[in-house]
Amino acid sequence: MTPSDLKATLSFNDGSPSIELPVYKGTVGPDVIDIRKLYAQMGRFTYDPGFMSTASCKSAITYIDGDKGELLYRGYPIEELATQCDFPEISYLLLKGELPNPEQKQRFKNLVTHHTMVHEQERTFFQGFPRDSHPMAILTGCVGALSAFYHDTLDIHDPRQREISAIRIIAKLPTLVAMTYRYHIGQPFMYPRNTLSYSANFMHMMFANPCEEYVINEVLARALDRILILHADHEQNASTSTVRLAGSSGANPFACIASGIACLWGPAHGGANEAALKMLEDIGAPERIPEFIKQVKNKRSDVKLMGFGHRVYKNYDPRARLMRATCHEVLQELGLHNDPLFKLAMALEKVALEDEYFISRKLYPNVDFYSGIVLRALRIPSTMFTCIFAMARSVGWIAQWDEMTSDPDQKIGRPRQLFVGQTPRMVKPIGQR
Ligand code: SDX
Repeated sequence: MTPSDLKATLSFNDGSPSIELPVYKGTVGPDVIDIRKLYAQMGRFTYDPGFMSTASCKSAITYIDGDKGELLYRGYPIEELATQCDFPEISYLLLKGELPNPEQKQRFKNLVTHHTMVHEQERTFFQGFPRDSHPMAILTGCVGALSAFYHDTLDIHDPRQREISAIRIIAKLPTLVAMTYRYHIGQPFMYPRNTLSYSANFMHMMFANPCEEYVINEVLARALDRILILHADHEQNASTSTVRLAGSSGANPFACIASGIACLWGPAHGGANEAALKMLEDIGAPERIPEFIKQVKNKRSDVKLMGFGHRVYKNYDPRARLMRATCHEVLQELGLHNDPLFKLAMALEKVALEDEYFISRKLYPNVDFYSGIVLRALRIPSTMFTCIFAMARSVGWIAQWDEMTSDPDQKIGRPRQLFVGQTPRMVKPIGQR
């Protein structure tokens, strides 16, 4: 980041001295005002719950321009990456900063492929979960448990050991997500197949069974690959910020990834695709859209248009547009082009995009609006949607964790507060309370 000649002066109307604060420029996007010395010099904090105007770190990985509806991974537009690359290439890009050449790609692919198995003891953890547990509960536990297998040899300040942790996360998440699904439906775990591509291997572990040959549908495998690309990273969203905060204490990276999974589960974040599909199923038919929209506008109803709106995008989420195209391709491939839910989603989107209530609030479809329809067409149950999101986002999480851990300026995250509780008081003996 570049110090600029621009300075910010903060003054108060109570006569206390003003303070001059440095302003830094990034390569693109808003400048930042460096307030690190504010408390030491002024005895005051800034106040920004939800971090609406706060940069928590510097990063070179992903950039979003919410007004333009632009998303860049290491400078490349998501529209180009999603149509010209596969998920392993995107994983390499997010981790290393450049797209791999053929030799680098093959070496990276081999590394990931040969780490897809989990320790046989991991399999026993599943037995403790009720079969009908929410898959995200199982995944949070089983990914956190990986820290039990990879802790004593882990020096997070050794770049080589950070790299192997990243490879293990990228390689083992699909295996654990598939095992979560298989445990949920009472079918035997399928081992990874080293001859298959990343996404095809995942579909094999999810849907194959030991009794017959499983034939990969390459169109569907490619669609899944694109879904993973679209969900891979997204600046300092809630779950990525959770991973960074957990990692800032030097915690085991597998435990940090588990904290990201826990945060992603929330319906306001990664749980939205499951909620958006349920919303479409509840609406049921286009003629019921007006009634639903009326509920959304009624603040007391607490009904939200799931899959719409975004903290950063105040324009169309570019991932939603690519997801809609993928939805169309998959439904065509499966002969479901008349899928009523897809048609309902497009009708609902049209109504919302023409309604002043949503226009005035800059509410557009986000990545979750169509992803549920695609995943459902891929025969992935809605309770597994956020697990798929976690599988994709684990690459962004571990890349951000690696960037933070290797940053010499990195400190443990420790926000302050505006205290609005009791002023100091003495304890009275119980008889006098
Ligand atoms: C993801 O951060 C990321 O990058 C996240 C993500 C990623 O890749 O990591 O992009 C993934 O989480 C996508 C978002 C998925 N969540 C949903 O689709 C759930 C529905 N969306 C909302 O919950 C909401 O839009 C948020 C949480 C996504 C954003 O909330 P903000 O920025 O805090 O927006 P807000 O609550 O301040 O909304 C501004 C106004 C409010 O109305 P008023 O008080 O001004 O009258 O818009 C309204 C909100 O009530 N509003 C909605 C709405 N979202 C916001 N009204 C109806 N339906 C909605 N979906």
